[in-house]
Amino acid sequence: MGATMSKNTCADDFSHYSVMASECIDGLNIDPCGTYCDLTLGGGGHSGLIAERLTSGRLICVDTDITAIKAASKRLERFSDRITYVNDNFRNIDAILQSAGVDEIDGALIDLGVSSFQLDCAERGFSYMQDAPLDMRMNTSDPVSAYNIVNELSEEELKKIIYTYGEENFASSIARRIVKERQSAPIQTTLQLVDVIKSAMPAKAKIGGHHPAKRTFQAIRIAVNSELEIIEPTLRAIVSRLSKNGRLCVITFHSLEDRIVKQTFASLSSGCTCPANFPVCVCGKTPKVKAVNKKPILPSDEELQENPRSRSAKLRIAEKL
Ligand SMILES: C[S@@+](CC[C@H](N)C(=O)[O-])C[C@H]1O[C@@H](n2cnc3c(N)ncnc32)[C@H](O)[C@@H]1O
Repeated sequence: MGATMSKNTCADDFSHYSVMASECIDGLNIDPCGTYCDLTLGGGGHSGLIAERLTSGRLICVDTDITAIKAASKRLERFSDRITYVNDNFRNIDAILQSAGVDEIDGALIDLGVSSFQLDCAERGFSYMQDAPLDMRMNTSDPVSAYNIVNELSEEELKKIIYTYGEENFASSIARRIVKERQSAPIQTTLQLVDVIKSAMPAKAKIGGHHPAKRTFQAIRIAVNSELEIIEPTLRAIVSRLSKNGRLCVITFHSLEDRIVKQTFASLSSGCTCPANFPVCVCGKTPKVKAVNKKPILPSDEELQENPRSRSAKLRIAEKL
């Protein structure tokens, strides 16, 4: 789950709630003349807060979803003198910076996952609460949608995705049921899929707790958007572009994402990896960053009350050495 709270379903100008906004702004330690990247623009909440702190500085706002770019650029019109919008996947950070003519940045923010705007917009097919064609693409020009994953992968592949990306205990029976159901006709919509998932789960697993389809939907969404495999290379690419003392803030929404961020920051913070009995270092590895906080920052009680959707959020901050 992502960061923005939308009230107007699929509307152009949506209101929003940016997760841990002041913690991110403090974390970025903004230099008014610096160059910053918001790699997950969404509703533009964090971007607006960064932009209003810039004087001669510059902000590059990236989102893979063109509707986010259109809505946020309207919302942030008053900062158009300092913002460059890029409709691209943040995995292409090097190419994005190169075409913006930027070598070095002073800070970057990544607020992972889908926005509430995307989630609440029924026709995008992210929600297990509203009926829509199976889609779940953040970039609607991408070739693979949830329909392809659900109707075209083998039972083994589906099981692996649902188990690995959804941490769903009933992955085997859900995958088996999906494959059985689609033999008569393709599974077309979100609520059709919800029924199939429910029918594959024992009654007691459906009482209380999360919605029975939550984990499977998360898994399929992660697979559709290749969400996990792009995190580590992107973090490394950003760190190599950060200026000395530049900060990278990353907000995650589930343990799979957070583990990758934590491990990547740990690896970038560590030095020589030569065996202890080597007389001199031959690997040449030196720490690139230091963690700003030992533990991840969590939303305050006040924020949790105002925006319950932030409950699983964690913010990690690294500083370039
Ligand atoms: C949680 S929302 C960001 C909300 C934003 N921080 C705010 O304050 O409104 C995540 C946004 O990142 C975008 N996104 C997710 N993965 C992306 C990727 N790999 N590249 C570019 N944008 C991505 C989504 O389309 C979505 O709009």
